[in-house]
Amino acid sequence: MNSDKGDFMGGVGEEVDLEDLDGIGSSTAEKLRRAGINSVKELAAISVRELLERSELGEGKAEEATKNARDLVLPKVVSAREFLERRKNMQRLTTGSKNIDRLLEGGLEPGITELIGAYGTGKTQLCLQLCVTAQLTANSGGLNGSAFYIDTEDTFKPERLLQIVKRFGVEDDRLLDGVYCFRAINSDHQFEGLREAVRYIKEKSVKLLIVDSLTSHFRSEYPGRENLVLRQQRLNSFMHALQRLVSIYDVIVVVTNQVLDVPEIIPGARPARPVGGNIVAHGSTFRLWLERAKGMTRVTCIDSPKHARGTTYVVLTEGGVEDAEGEE
Ligand SMILES: Nc1ncnc2c1ncn2[C@@H]1O[C@H](COP(=O)(O)OP(=O)(O)OP(=O)(O)O)[C@@H](O)[C@H]1O
Ligand SMILES: [Mg+2]
Repeated sequence: MNSDKGDFMGGVGEEVDLEDLDGIGSSTAEKLRRAGINSVKELAAISVRELLERSELGEGKAEEATKNARDLVLPKVVSAREFLERRKNMQRLTTGSKNIDRLLEGGLEPGITELIGAYGTGKTQLCLQLCVTAQLTANSGGLNGSAFYIDTEDTFKPERLLQIVKRFGVEDDRLLDGVYCFRAINSDHQFEGLREAVRYIKEKSVKLLIVDSLTSHFRSEYPGRENLVLRQQRLNSFMHALQRLVSIYDVIVVVTNQVLDVPEIIPGARPARPVGGNIVAHGSTFRLWLERAKGMTRVTCIDSPKHARGTTYVVLTEGGVEDAEGEE
């Protein structure tokens, strides 16, 4: 078990071939690979129901295979002490803003962090900046890894990376070779981007996955109330796929999300709400809300299982997302 990582699967599943699992012969392994399941870890994380949908396996075989995979790679129970030890050793990712890092008690961690905000509040700028900081060494708050960017709005700009990197001292060539972009033209393609990301996580030491934006394709392809159920189902599948990716590969996932104006203003409430309703709200681990305020961007941690609700301020500059002077 690889104890210096935050995940609970450790490295076991990587060394064992699918064929080596009890009850899996070469023909079952072949069917699994055709369904896009290439490792014991991936098999352990998939539900029987989804496996039945994706593969030609019968129910009995699907149940047996997933159970045997789970038995191999997942510890049954972990004590709070072990849990805490693993988290202590976990590398956090600096956002490049001390203010936001402070809000998150040291930076981003494995899980899904959602950046919520209206247009122009800096969601994309922060994502681009994270592609730079991910490549820093651990001593400088980075992950010494690459980034994979699923771009749904054609806003991924390598030129911007080159401006932002000046603040961080990573070489231009190294930076550009360590950020992979997948331009997703519709929601089906966005799912495909996720499958592609898995390949890069395994082969190119990708440690950070960005989905910018998570919701825009789903929103435009399934408009109106009549499509709401279907849209939420699809969004739910996407969120589940992201969560699975986090638990299998221990990556940091950052997604962006727009806000909708709320017609009826509830006194004291924000006059906007994030797209995607409960599906996205419950699927994200950490939620940061970005708003324009006094020429700055106010960042509020609105939801986290461990951080207190807090607020800080940053500014958008040529160098990226920087701390607002005099603000904490
Ligand atoms: N080169 C630059 N120099 C200074 N500021 C910049 C530069 N590039 C972008 N910005 C700032 O970033 C803002 C755009 O932010 P960003 O693209 O992150 O918005 P967003 O939150 O992703 O919006 P959307 O919801 O439309 O995607 C610009 O309005 C500007 O203030
Ligand atoms: Mg954007």
